[in-house]
Formats: sequence, C-alpha cells, structure tokens
Amino acid sequence: MMRHYKNGGTYPEFILKWVEEYGPVLVCHVMHKTMVFTVDQEAVKELLVNGNHPKSEFVYGRLSNLFGNRFVGKGLLTETDHAVWSERRSLYNAAFHRGYLMHLMPVFNTTSDVLVEKLKSVADTGNVISMASELSKATLDIIGKVAFDLDINSLRDLKQPFPKAMFTVLTGFDTKVKNLFSEYNPKFWAAGLEIGSAIKLLRQSAKDSLDHRTEMLRNDEPVPNDILTHMAKMADMMPALHKEKLIDDYVTFFLAGHDTTANLMSFFLIELGRHPDIADKLYAEIDDMVGKKESITYTELNQLEYLNMCLKETLRLYPPAAVTFRDTRDEIKICGYDIPKGTICAVSPFASARLEENFPDPLDFNPERFRPTAQFRPKIYGYFPFSIGPRTCIGQTFAQIEAKVVLVKLLQNFTFQLDSSQNFGLAESTTLKPRGGAMCSVILR
Ligand code: HEM
Repeated sequence: MMRHYKNGGTYPEFILKWVEEYGPVLVCHVMHKTMVFTVDQEAVKELLVNGNHPKSEFVYGRLSNLFGNRFVGKGLLTETDHAVWSERRSLYNAAFHRGYLMHLMPVFNTTSDVLVEKLKSVADTGNVISMASELSKATLDIIGKVAFDLDINSLRDLKQPFPKAMFTVLTGFDTKVKNLFSEYNPKFWAAGLEIGSAIKLLRQSAKDSLDHRTEMLRNDEPVPNDILTHMAKMADMMPALHKEKLIDDYVTFFLAGHDTTANLMSFFLIELGRHPDIADKLYAEIDDMVGKKESITYTELNQLEYLNMCLKETLRLYPPAAVTFRDTRDEIKICGYDIPKGTICAVSPFASARLEENFPDPLDFNPERFRPTAQFRPKIYGYFPFSIGPRTCIGQTFAQIEAKVVLVKLLQNFTFQLDSSQNFGLAESTTLKPRGGAMCSVILR
C-alpha cells in the first residue's frame, strides 16, 4: 500500500484495485491496526446507515490536531462520540436547510461574479491558467461571505493573512496524511511552526467573528441571516456549549466546504473539455433556460436538468471525499466473515461507483445514466458521494447551489480549452483532486 502511495497513487484507487482483484471485502494491516475495506452493499448499509457505528477515532482523531495545535478539534466532521455529535448536528441542520440557504442566493451570485471578472482579465490572452487553483480561491471566498459575511478576497490577493493561513494549513494536512510520522520528524518542524501560527490566526479570527456577531445580536443590530448568525444564537441560547467547540465547527465548515466543491468543479471542467458533445448540450441548456441573466434564482437552478446530470456523473467518477471510516460498535458480519467489535472499516464512494456491477462501463463519463427518465437506477449503496446515513454531508445543498451558480456563470461567459499538458490522473491530499490542476485557456463567448 505504501509503495502504491509513494508512486503517486491515491488511497481510493488502491481500494478499487484490490477489491477488483480480491473481492468485495479485504483486510489490511496498517502498523498495529487492522482495517477492513468493503464495497459490499449490505456492509455499506450496515456501516453507514443501520449500525450507528461511530467514526473511527484512529482516523478522525488524527485530523483534529495538526503539529500539536488544535485545528478542527472535535468539530462536526471529526467528533467520534455519536451522542455528542448527534446533539450538535441537530442544532446545525436548520442552518444548512434549503429554505435557509435560498435566502442567500444573492450572496452566492455576487461572490461568484468576482471569479467571472477575474477570468475576463485573462480570457482571450492565450495564457494557460490552473482552474483548480482559481476555483479553490473562489470557493474559499464564497463560503467566507455566504456563511460568515467575511470578505476573504483570496481571488484578488492570496497574500492576505486569512487565505494565506488557510492554504498553509491545507498544506499541513497534506503533509500529515502523506507522511505518517511527519509531526515527529525534525525535517518538518519548521513547517510545523508556520502551520501552528496559521492555525492560531484562523481560530482567533473565528472567535472574533463569533464574538462580534453575538454582540450585534445583543444590541439588536441588523445582521445577515447566515450560518454565523445561527451559530451566535446557538451560543447565546446554550451557555453550556463550549466556545472552543463552536470554533471547531467554524473552521470545520471552512475546511469541509471549500476544496470539496472546488474539486468537483475542476473535474467537471476537465470532463467537459474531454467531451465537446456533452459541453455543447450543456451550453444549449444554459442559453435556453438562463441566457445572459446576471442574477440566477434558485428556481432557475432547479430547471437545469442536464447540468444536474453532469454534476452527478462527475461526483460518481470523482467524489472529492472518497473514503470514510467507522469503528465497529459491535461484532458484525461482512460477506460471511466475522468482524470483531472495534475494527476500523473503510467504505469508498469512489471504489463503489467505479464497479461494473454498479455502473455498466464505469469509466465512461456518461451523464445520461442520471437522466430522470432513464431506466437505469443507481443502487443506493453503490452511489453515495455525499455519504449516506446519519453522518451524511450537512453541506450537500450548500455545495450544489454553489457549484451550480458558479458553473452557470462560467459557462454563460466562457469556453474552456484544456491545455495539451493536462494530466488526467488523480491526486489526493485531504480530498481527491485533479493531478494536473485543470489547466485551461479561457475564451470569451
Ligand atoms: C461537492 C462538495 C462536497 C462533497 C462531495 C462532500 C462530501 C462529504 C462527505 C462524503 C462527508 C462524510 C465524510 C466522512 O464520513 O468522513 C461530508 C461530511 C461533511 N461535510 Fe461535506 N461535502 C461537500 C461540500 C460541503 C460543504 C460546502 C460543506 C459546508 C458548507 C460541507 C460540510 C460538511 C460537514 C460539516 C461534514 C460532517 C457532517 C457530520 O458528520 O455531521 N461539505 N461531506
């Protein structure tokens, strides 16, 4: 496994290769730990939906701290105590509900316009740019503004302290995931100090934001109806909710909600570049349904059926969060094998959705699989890019609105020509991303 990783392979590709070779369940020993990987439908159902198995402490505990500093701590993504998580999750659900997010459509629109304006300045110059990098900055700015009324401005100036700190921390995550012992290795200590300062800055800025919004609410000042307001109200109503945990959640929303959506859009543009026939259909749908309209409504987004199909197909082949881990709560059976209590079990939306038995011709990019009138129906436990069961992605609707608004605006204004140097392989840090960075030249329509 480590050899595969060192040769540039990714974890989910490794799982897929092995289940194709050995069958739907396999066991692997990582240091002193035993891990079970499975793509078996019944096992996915048991692990993610029915069994209330907690997230794996060995895996998610490692993500809580970076180089000795509390980063996402026990935020919503990394909390492994099911009861503690469940209470907090139910408090947050309302803030991520479609009805709540619909009111934020104007902010989704205006923040996406910044990317369009930036791309206009490079369009038709023949310069090749990394759309993965631009989209990563755009999603950071969008989540900052939409969720927390924060002007991060990374698209305009990446050297600002907040975006600089966020990207430093993401690099730190990458280092930790790829080098199991990096935190104990003197070679990484200088980087660790830098990462520590970046974390302090991010957590302090989260605390300042929360305090400021709480103050505004107490003074009856007008506030945006965003996720930060929801958090500040929660803090006021529930004094027992520790401030550090709210800060954990604040940084978690940035971490979980930023590169995931950027990567989805990068893969999407790559696949459009490789399939001009699909791109033509998509341009036609957008021209017909939205035209050159500048502010896109939620209702209009829902009418874009082909866009939705293309997004689903992109998520099938390239789910940005490609593996999830549970510790078995009790002894369970997987494909007839007894799996003891406390075993780490991994399931992968990437591996499951690339199996011939779940999707015929699985490596073909074919949005028609998801046409609502198609006879083919994906198996529930074979397609779960936002996970499934109680720990499903809370930001799913947020991500879908965001990706659709940004992509509609991009396709209204530009065509994207993939550069011949584009590498179609996969890369992995905390999320699955295009190895080549979605290198494109941008042409005004
Ligand atoms: C295309 C975009 C996205 C994809 C594919 C995605 C996928 C996922 C997946 C698979 C999980 C489960 C992770 C696990 O079990 O380890 C998850 C959890 C989560 N996601 Fe997303 N996500 C996306 C965007 C977002 C956004 C935009 C936000 C926030 C604004 C967000 C916030 C979260 C949070 C907080 C969790 C933990 C939920 C919990 O355990 O209660 N995600 N996401």
